Amino acid sequence: MIFTLYNVPFIALGLLATYYLVPYLQSAHKRAIPSPSLAAFTNLWLLLQARQGKRFLSVDEAHNKYGKVVRIAPNHVSIADDNAINVIYGHGNGFLKADFYDAFVSIRRGLFNTRNRAEHSRKRKIVSHTFSAKSIGQFEQYIHANLEIFVEQWSKLSKLEANPKTGYASIDALNWFNYLAFDIIGDLAFGAPFGMLKNGKDIAEMRKSPDEPPKYVAAVEVLNRRGEVSATLGCLPALKPWAKYIPDRFFTEGLAAVENLAGIAIARVNERVKPEVVAQNTRVDLLAHLMEGRDETGEKLGLEELTAEALTQLIAGSDTTSNTSCAILYWCIRTPGVVEKLRKVLDDAIPKDVEVPSFAMVKDIAYLQWVISETMRIHSTSAMGLARQIPEGSPPVEISGHTFYPGDILSVPSYTVHRSKEIWGSDAEEFVPERWENLSVRQKAAFIPFSHGPRACVGRNVAEMELLVIVATVFGLFEFQIEQEEEMQTREGFLRKPLGLQVGLRRRVRV
Ligand code: HEM
Repeated sequence: MIFTLYNVPFIALGLLATYYLVPYLQSAHKRAIPSPSLAAFTNLWLLLQARQGKRFLSVDEAHNKYGKVVRIAPNHVSIADDNAINVIYGHGNGFLKADFYDAFVSIRRGLFNTRNRAEHSRKRKIVSHTFSAKSIGQFEQYIHANLEIFVEQWSKLSKLEANPKTGYASIDALNWFNYLAFDIIGDLAFGAPFGMLKNGKDIAEMRKSPDEPPKYVAAVEVLNRRGEVSATLGCLPALKPWAKYIPDRFFTEGLAAVENLAGIAIARVNERVKPEVVAQNTRVDLLAHLMEGRDETGEKLGLEELTAEALTQLIAGSDTTSNTSCAILYWCIRTPGVVEKLRKVLDDAIPKDVEVPSFAMVKDIAYLQWVISETMRIHSTSAMGLARQIPEGSPPVEISGHTFYPGDILSVPSYTVHRSKEIWGSDAEEFVPERWENLSVRQKAAFIPFSHGPRACVGRNVAEMELLVIVATVFGLFEFQIEQEEEMQTREGFLRKPLGLQVGLRRRVRV
């Protein structure tokens, strides 16, 4: 064929057809699996759901319509079956993170987006040591100090901005949970809080390279944009190099956010590794432990890898906690009777003159733990199915009546499994903390807010400590009323995030 301008569209069409048809034809074993609209032929269906911030919901709807096993992309099958959790995420089969995670790489691969098993084990060994029981005990002081500033600010707001008619000050609670979580993780992972609580504002210092002068960026916003664009491009990672040419600000602004976020880590870690700072350091935070960590050959992390790991902690440990805290507040205040019960158990456990309780005071309060777990179930901060690929050389795997082969991508959608009536009963859509009193073995295994297996959340113990003291402080000291008509709206990037929570706030008088 002679190459002319006229046949460019035909060549392009041919390439496109090959791009989509080859994977389709190669995967005869998946053809019997139902799929929504064009999802069996193209990744664009999933990409579009992610671009609209509702992937978890569209996948949930697809399961309601087609059953437990649904093809959500030519090579990706979603399995809403709790029996599949251990097969896909457990240690046994050695499934790897899929190419979805390539879209999340900045600076270099960190613990979260490393796909190679040996490389992941090496990093995980160094980072796990950072989260030992002893280290976590040392982290409490930083969590406590930031919570004290949070209480000071909320107490001030409830006094100065109280509406004389209602006695409540109106706030968006989500903003404050973001400031709190970012300041805590800034303190832990970078050696100092960002100062968001003190300023009552979303602001952080960043530098593109160690020698450049600092700029100030809205870190919460940057993290949101970055999560949304990466989770969208992750549905078609081949698009990432071209994304800057897509005439949609979502992509251009999201890609700029990825750079800005890396800049925040560069600025902070660089300061901390200066020999004069190291020599005088007395801090026992996450960064100090990362700087000390060694792999099995006795090697420490180099500067770039250290920066990438500190950035990983910032990303993984900030809006996960703030979104969950906000969802806990929402579900507790909208469900009659919950706040009263919570206050009773908190008052029994926390002395009257204590504003911010210690972890030791609250860690064994069963009802407090139940409201946290129940929110993590019904809200599902990590809502989407986390994509895993069957590695080359692996034998075929039987799951939910289907056989899968090396190269296939599988996931279990947390939101759908967390709301399954078959697992949780007819009240699965309701917020019932008491269900945690007698959890069945099946329900325990189907509860996966931190995922499961070798890639499960490494910061789970820190997150649980944070949530326990945050929720105990908030309900011990303050009273709330919902000031928005509609339900709390959410949008999904990598996480399911509330878009805001308008509440009235006032200081509680404890009798
Ligand atoms: C409520 C709070 C949190 C939730 C719901 C949560 C949830 C999760 C989930 C579902 C994963 C698996 C992600 C995947 O497979 O793609 C994960 C991984 C991870 N989390 Fe968390 N997380 C929370 C808090 C934290 C905190 C506070 C830290 C650190 C200080 C942290 C650090 C990490 C890291 C580094 C990974 C990657 C682990 C690996 O791949 O080996 N997380 N988290």
